[in-house]
Amino acid sequence: MTLTIDEMATFCKRKGLVYPNSELYGGLAGVFDYGPLGAELKRNLMREWWRFFVQQREDIAGIDGAILAHPKVWVASGHVQNFTDPMLECPKCGEKQRADHFIETATGKSADGLSRKELAAMAKELRCPRCSSPWKELGAFNMMFATHVGPVRDDASVAYLRPETAQLMFADFRLVAENARLKLPFGIAQMGKAFRNEIAPRNFLFRCREFEQMEIEYFIHPKQLMECPYVGEVEKLRMLVYSAEMQKSQRDASEMSLGDAVTQGTIKTPWHAYWLGKTFEWFTALGANAAKFRIRQHLPEELSHYALDTWDLEYAFPFGWKELQGIANRGDYDLKQHMEFSGKDLSLFDEASKERVIPHVVAEPSLGVDRSFLVFLYDAYDDDKKRGNVVLHLHPRLAPVQCAVFPLLSNRPELVEKARTVHLLLREEFSSVFDRAGSIGRRYARQDEQGTPLCVTVDFDSLQNDDVTIRDRDSTEQKRVPVARLAETVRALVRGKPFSGL
Ligand code: GAP
Repeated sequence: MTLTIDEMATFCKRKGLVYPNSELYGGLAGVFDYGPLGAELKRNLMREWWRFFVQQREDIAGIDGAILAHPKVWVASGHVQNFTDPMLECPKCGEKQRADHFIETATGKSADGLSRKELAAMAKELRCPRCSSPWKELGAFNMMFATHVGPVRDDASVAYLRPETAQLMFADFRLVAENARLKLPFGIAQMGKAFRNEIAPRNFLFRCREFEQMEIEYFIHPKQLMECPYVGEVEKLRMLVYSAEMQKSQRDASEMSLGDAVTQGTIKTPWHAYWLGKTFEWFTALGANAAKFRIRQHLPEELSHYALDTWDLEYAFPFGWKELQGIANRGDYDLKQHMEFSGKDLSLFDEASKERVIPHVVAEPSLGVDRSFLVFLYDAYDDDKKRGNVVLHLHPRLAPVQCAVFPLLSNRPELVEKARTVHLLLREEFSSVFDRAGSIGRRYARQDEQGTPLCVTVDFDSLQNDDVTIRDRDSTEQKRVPVARLAETVRALVRGKPFSGL
């Protein structure tokens, strides 16, 4: 049985994964704190993304830009003017609602891709949920958080908390390309905090006001649009595809290989297919359930001000198919805007073609950390009735704790001492905890619930033979391993060796 999002929030709070922020004072809507286990899981998730998309590639360099930037960055990017949500406001009681969300809830129909005119027409038929008055004309609300830099609080000192990590990859583009000696095609990656003053934060971590993103800007020579040297890596991946055309003609999404989707023209560039496939591959390699993913193309009316074509990687959350990652083709919009507003040249000399070009961002894979965190939790969660406890089947690379070490009996000093030594040995390389509280069954259950893949027990035989038992979380199978081979065994299991193969 799938947990509702509220049940998931309750589970996360109980296990120390995620708490409502400043609950002591009544909380702050749309802001969450990651607790001891959540902080580890989130850190692991982000580390795995960085490893896969930055460190293991030669064509991508990472940066760690600031949260604040010169306000002109956000004027040039179009955010000051366009980063708005459609808003409904009640003239009588002042109630404010995000128009598309309110219309969806009130009518039960999807508002995806509706134009402002269509939203306004539908809102005319609806009433304020608090006082039943008709709404005012459809308004717009800019979602950027503004602050002031320096001691004077006037218009000239306004700066914004970044609403996406993306823009610094454009503002720093020339320096990064030169420092990292990148040749087209190449990418710049960044992960970190983003802030949006969402009118209606909801669904726990899904829509927050403070969240994190993992983003790549992938630059190509404008003539390389149809030449992706890596597309072969994803061609055979089969995914549920939901093009704009399928949505317009009210057809269902259709399963096909990414190779076929490109050949048939459903996905227009091999780059788009490549980046959609790569993220899908990343999620599934870390244990996410492939059957709960699909890709959906934005309808023309839905496209952001900078996008030529956008596909979302969507996930079947308990509240419906929702965006996990957006991948926009931004063309040369951003570099041209920053050239115009800064007066600086951001073109590059491309050695292969011997041409000076303004590179195009053919794909901007932009993934939410907090939404990914939810995906891994949903796909790991298993209320195991036979065991009588929850088991989180998290991939060992994501698990907050990789091994838990127990003395079989907590009142026998010789077992406790040896177990501590084993724990300290494992802690050199892995995240390990030492637990001597309660029965061994209770200790297994506690670790199952927090997703610890391996439990290591020191018993009386261990004192004689210098070995331990390792218990596999998923099968509950146990094997004896000499202490001298423990670290290499755990290393192999964390890297994906099946427990049955020990
Ligand atoms: N630079 C492009 C960009 O920011 P976006 O579709 O607005 O695109 C990218 O955001 C991703 O960031 C989303 O797919 C989602 O995973 C995450 N995200 C956006 N708004 C969010 C919010 N309010 N709370 C949590 N995650 C959010």
